Amino acid sequence: MIELININKYYRTEEENLHVLKDINLSADAGEMIAIMGPSGSGKSTLINTLGFIDTKFDGQYLFEGENLITTSDDRLSKVRNQIVGFVFQDFSLIDNYTVYENVELPLLYNGYSFNETKEKVMAALDKVGIADKAEKHPKQLSGGQQQRVAIARALINQPKFIIADEPTGALDTHTSAEIMKLFQELNRKEKATIFMVTHDPEVVPYCTRLVSIRDGAIIEDKAVDDR
Ligand SMILES: Nc1ncnc2c1ncn2[C@@H]1O[C@H](COP(=O)(O)OP(=O)(O)OP(=O)(O)O)[C@@H](O)[C@H]1O
Ligand SMILES: [Mg+2]
Repeated sequence: MIELININKYYRTEEENLHVLKDINLSADAGEMIAIMGPSGSGKSTLINTLGFIDTKFDGQYLFEGENLITTSDDRLSKVRNQIVGFVFQDFSLIDNYTVYENVELPLLYNGYSFNETKEKVMAALDKVGIADKAEKHPKQLSGGQQQRVAIARALINQPKFIIADEPTGALDTHTSAEIMKLFQELNRKEKATIFMVTHDPEVVPYCTRLVSIRDGAIIEDKAVDDR
């Protein structure tokens, strides 16, 4: 599904030229759940943002289903992003003065649905993540784990080809992290969701199908996780 071929990325400033991704070669198939681990500053977010069509300035090739979708038109790029990727962040990134329902509905409206077409989809997504009863609450009225469930429902609502999650359990306690990882694993197994997940937490790895380790911008290890 995804192929990164010899990706190199640099941040150039007047003082220095930072080489943040070094000869990255990474292929991923639909249905994988890939953990990306590495020290702070090693390039994990840069890598995942490249996969998510957020970061588009790099050398090398990114093929999605055999096609290069990177364009210089911001408009077309955000359409690509909207249709292909679902995003989950460490800090949930929900809109506080919207209800849970409205937060999950928003990407549908961006994608051209009208208000009267969204109800079934939104409620199905909330049901899938186990918080259908919280639809009329506001994010601040929910626990961290529940807020992350809302964010996951929002990420799923447009039926993306894959999900990108940057430290999705980073703000959660151990027990809640495990609950959220079980949810991701269920989505991966039952719904065949393809998931890329950056994490610092080794306990997240057993829920995944594959582990990619990066150091100083280079992949140093890429292996199947077999004990799940
Ligand atoms: N916009 C930017 N301009 C210049 N340098 C940047 C920029 N974004 C990231 N960097 C640098 O690129 C390197 C990789 O950053 P990145 O955010 O990908 O690391 P990370 O592995 O996600 O780290 P963390 O675990 O702390 O989130 C770091 O040295 C960082 O300082
Ligand atoms: Mg990061």
